[in-house]
Amino acid sequence: MTIFLLIAAGYLLGSIPFGVLLTRAFGAGDLRQIGSGNIGATNVLRTGRKSLAAATLLLDAAKGAVAVLLARYWLPELGDHGAMIAGAAAVIGHCYPVWLNFRGGKGVATMLGLALALAWPIGAVFMIIWLGTVLVTRISSLGGMVGAVSAPVAALAFGFAVYAVGLAGLAIILLWRHRENIARLRAGTEPRVGRKRGAA
Ligand code: G3P
Repeated sequence: MTIFLLIAAGYLLGSIPFGVLLTRAFGAGDLRQIGSGNIGATNVLRTGRKSLAAATLLLDAAKGAVAVLLARYWLPELGDHGAMIAGAAAVIGHCYPVWLNFRGGKGVATMLGLALALAWPIGAVFMIIWLGTVLVTRISSLGGMVGAVSAPVAALAFGFAVYAVGLAGLAIILLWRHRENIARLRAGTEPRVGRKRGAA
């Protein structure tokens, strides 16, 4: 029973759409009608409000990290599996929130927070590859996807095999959530950070 409560708590935590709430609260419009329509920090950045984008990134990442900490302190007997399950529930909550008719975000920030809380070396690899790719290409979606895929590989490389399958499953979900970005990348029309949408 408690495992179901943990999954529900992780999901509900992850389903809080901070990007939508912050942009609405600070008069930056309806995020789902702006840019890509995504509810994540990259799209908040397209409103021109950098501080709101930074806050969205931090809060979305915190959802994944807090879910892991919740499992570790509330149900320590579930061990690493409990932490992975709670964090995965948060990422799924972010991607498929009940409050937005299950049309949520793409999960990058929440998965990064989860990875950092599970084992910092995994999170560090994720963050370095994500940021490095974005700095070089200026394409946020590409950085997020490459970073997410690097997480299960880093788990295996650094001796955290217990998380590899869960992280690989989440990476697949993230790739699926980025399918429109992938189509735009293939067409050469994916917008770059710091440039107007359409100016690939
Ligand atoms: O984290 C979301 C990012 O990977 C892509 O966002 O708005 O460019 O589709 P967006």
